[in-house]
Amino acid sequence: MVFKMKKTKIAFAICGSFCNMENSISELKKLVKKYDILPIISFNVAKMDTRFGTAAETRKKIESICSKKIIDSIEGAEPIGPKNMADALVVCPCTGNTLAKIVNAITDTPVTMAVKSMLRIQRPILICFASNDGLGASAQNLAKARNTKNIFFVPMAKDDPINKPNSLVADFSKLSENLESILE
Ligand SMILES: Cc1cc2nc3c(=O)[nH]c(=O)nc-3n(C[C@H](O)[C@H](O)[C@H](O)COP(=O)(O)O)c2cc1C
Repeated sequence: MVFKMKKTKIAFAICGSFCNMENSISELKKLVKKYDILPIISFNVAKMDTRFGTAAETRKKIESICSKKIIDSIEGAEPIGPKNMADALVVCPCTGNTLAKIVNAITDTPVTMAVKSMLRIQRPILICFASNDGLGASAQNLAKARNTKNIFFVPMAKDDPINKPNSLVADFSKLSENLESILE
């Protein structure tokens, strides 16, 4: 008899840090080889066409990589925790906006609903942060989130200290190894 190991289920939530969309999608391509991925997008990713691509293009890419329909509503994200739909949640990229909502218990997007739903059952959340105000207005939110049980961060650094002294961006290439360690 051949036993097939069930793949670990990872919910992968994408926020509107559009300049990092390609980085996020590259990491998603790697993770999908190893994990069963459940893709989630924020309302802004679902609707905004930017100089980095249209909302429709982004949706098509993600759905074709994951071979799954994207969760793009609050009611779609609500059962992720209670119905045991994911072992861990990755938020990649996480905007300053979404982080601010997470640490202030504001649940008005599919991504913030997914976070709340996973925290409810004490599952780990890995945040890949990117924001021009990481060391500015968002710094207090980063500190709060760092001090919250079950929330972890991919290491981040200043991406342009001269022109954007408050900007912080995660090292996306470290996502996969960080995910492995939080799953352990
Ligand atoms: C082209 C473009 C790039 C953006 N890049 C970022 C970013 O890297 N980080 C960030 O925090 N916000 C960024 N924003 C702003 C967010 O999209 C905005 O705060 C939005 O409300 C985020 O919604 P969400 O967190 O629900 O996805 C960008 C906006 C645009 C139009």
